[in-house]
Amino acid sequence: MSKKSVDMGRRRFLTASTSVVGAVGVAVAAVPFVGSWQPSARAQAAGAPVEVDVSKMEMGQQITVEWRQKPVWIVRRSEEMVDDLPQLKSRLRDPDSNVDAQPEYAKNIYRSIKPEYFVAVALCTHLGCIPSYRPEAGTLSVDWPGGFYCPCHGSAFDLAGRVFKGVPAPENLVVPPYKYLSDTVLMIGEDEEGGIA
Ligand code: FES
Repeated sequence: MSKKSVDMGRRRFLTASTSVVGAVGVAVAAVPFVGSWQPSARAQAAGAPVEVDVSKMEMGQQITVEWRQKPVWIVRRSEEMVDDLPQLKSRLRDPDSNVDAQPEYAKNIYRSIKPEYFVAVALCTHLGCIPSYRPEAGTLSVDWPGGFYCPCHGSAFDLAGRVFKGVPAPENLVVPPYKYLSDTVLMIGEDEEGGIA
């Protein structure tokens, strides 16, 4: 990556990190995320789909919901975050998500139905640790583009959950079945393809 593009990335990071920090403050102060999703704990344990209202999410914000006793992330990606994804192709093991069993809508560089909202099961595909959200470019290494980092054995994924080459995780993060009930309400656990995973 050229110095110019690294600088560009850092500039974007400054914008993005401001949004993220702001978003965290808002989430903690005003809207505990658990208040925005359903259904009851008993229904969840039985595997019911989970409805999530993402209308209050800030750009760059990540929230975690629980579906079938697994953590599931939703990240609202800014245009800058999405624009950087095509450039990473040569550094990724499966950039187009072709070889893993994923919903059709995850087989593209965004790995999502809409580029703005990324949905993924928050478990590392190596041995199942929960990676951390590291959207800030340049923080893990000079050419870190932002993404998810698993502290257990060092696997790294980009902001579409695509695994980098040379790490222990063999596959991209899993995208669960989901669909949009409206522009800003997601249902996780069910999709238009009839997938229930
Ligand atoms: S469990 Fe994530 S790198 Fe091993």
